[in-house]
Amino acid sequence: MSLLEWEKQHANAFFYVKKSISDIKGIFVAYNSNIDAMKHISEKDLSKLLDIVNLEEVKQKIVNYPREIQNPEDFLARLIISMRDGKAAEIPTYDAKIHEWLKENLGFDSMRMGGQAGIISNLLAPLGIRVVVFSPWASKEQSEYYVDSKFLFSPIVVDGKLILTHPINAYNSEYEAKVNWVIEFSKGIAIKFDGISFKVPRDDRLIISSRPSFVRIGMPDELYGKIPELRNDLSGAILSGYQIIKEKYENGVCCDECVEKSVGVIQQLKEGNPNFRIHVEFTSIQNKRIRLLVLEKIVKANVHSLGLDTVEVANALNVLGHEELAYTVINKGEKSIIALYEGAVRLLHDLELERVHIHSFGFYICVASKDCIVDMEEHRTALLFSSVLAASKALGGEVVAGLSVPVSEIGYNKLKVLEKYLIDRGACSHDEFEHGCVSTNTHDIIVIPTKIVEKPVATVGIGDTISAGAFAAILAMIEAKKV
Ligand code: AMP
Ligand code: GLC
Repeated sequence: MSLLEWEKQHANAFFYVKKSISDIKGIFVAYNSNIDAMKHISEKDLSKLLDIVNLEEVKQKIVNYPREIQNPEDFLARLIISMRDGKAAEIPTYDAKIHEWLKENLGFDSMRMGGQAGIISNLLAPLGIRVVVFSPWASKEQSEYYVDSKFLFSPIVVDGKLILTHPINAYNSEYEAKVNWVIEFSKGIAIKFDGISFKVPRDDRLIISSRPSFVRIGMPDELYGKIPELRNDLSGAILSGYQIIKEKYENGVCCDECVEKSVGVIQQLKEGNPNFRIHVEFTSIQNKRIRLLVLEKIVKANVHSLGLDTVEVANALNVLGHEELAYTVINKGEKSIIALYEGAVRLLHDLELERVHIHSFGFYICVASKDCIVDMEEHRTALLFSSVLAASKALGGEVVAGLSVPVSEIGYNKLKVLEKYLIDRGACSHDEFEHGCVSTNTHDIIVIPTKIVEKPVATVGIGDTISAGAFAAILAMIEAKKV
């Protein structure tokens, strides 16, 4: 299919899904919302920061790879790694001092809604989808970042009764806002300091995620008890934020208890409705024990759909015992797209999922189980729809704005490597691959080249937009099948 044909397919899918989205009864979205302090970093900003830290320590830490930010040197080491590799990452900090240091020495350009639950709610409600968002640490300041939409609700329990109200009325006045630092960097910035020299290969970002002690994944018992009432008007759920789970909390509670409760929520949501679908957006989980726990105990066999970017695919494969494949995914060689596909298949089978949706720069790969009630063309339509939403998000414009963004030639060409691999193995013909739908004995493969905005206003949140947009489209299709 030519690039022009892919453009047309994007437009058709967009208008088709937009029309059918009203079939969705509602989507439950949880858990993480926060405020993102956004800063586009320049060469000048970086060299100013490097002037005031211990350079030798930063260089040592680039090798040691800190997985938690305790001081400015940890921060600069992880920032330089991200900029050098053009790879996104989210690193926790449990110390408010780094927040103060960043405020004093770097500053920010703007504040906006952050966190998967926050970003996804603000995306879906304006599309006319009924969204019920729950974030356990909702603060007054945070609640002001939600869009003003008649489709957006938060659940609260008053005098034993479940009430759905706009999030602006559903916060805990004892909490303060969780503010994360999002350091965006642009392709082409030249970095040169003390023997280290490179050019940033692509636009991306580093997130310093604050983890104040009140930030915990969970649900008050009174709300948990109301899930049966809540789920009547829902078609599915999008869950994320599990990266916040700690191995041990100050009050002695450990991660296993937190995981058990999270699984309870999932089981309650699904109860009695075989059509109910749950998507988990994986995100960056630095702690390997928690990463494995989330995959094996929360995701495996409990949820239907998983969304990840390429780094997250490598991270997931790594803890699941596929280290070599993980290495090839991250390796920038030509073969990485093949490893990405093979990795998606491993995740689908190991975690007993219905669909795995990987978003990468210029293309998406989705693998689906043979018994998935949505067919390959429908999966493809969902991906195309989300590619338009992603372009709109990268432009920072209205949802239709992305329609005018061209399909990426880079992505289109990258897919050729995967095409050759699949044809050589007898998995498909040229025509089948060209249409983006390949059926094998064990799974279906859906691949599309996507729209890419040349100069994005920011990169943060695009992945969430892609996953949530495609999953919402899938929910609409499942609802339309019901008689
Ligand atoms: P994540 O790392 O989860 O936020 O996902 C980032 C995703 O956003 C990438 O995998 C791409 O699919 C998409 N993306 C990144 N940059 C752009 C851009 N300039 N235009 C459109 N999509 C983009
Ligand atoms: C993570 C970060 C949040 C950011 C989001 C974007 O949830 O914690 O700051 O807005 O990812 O995907």
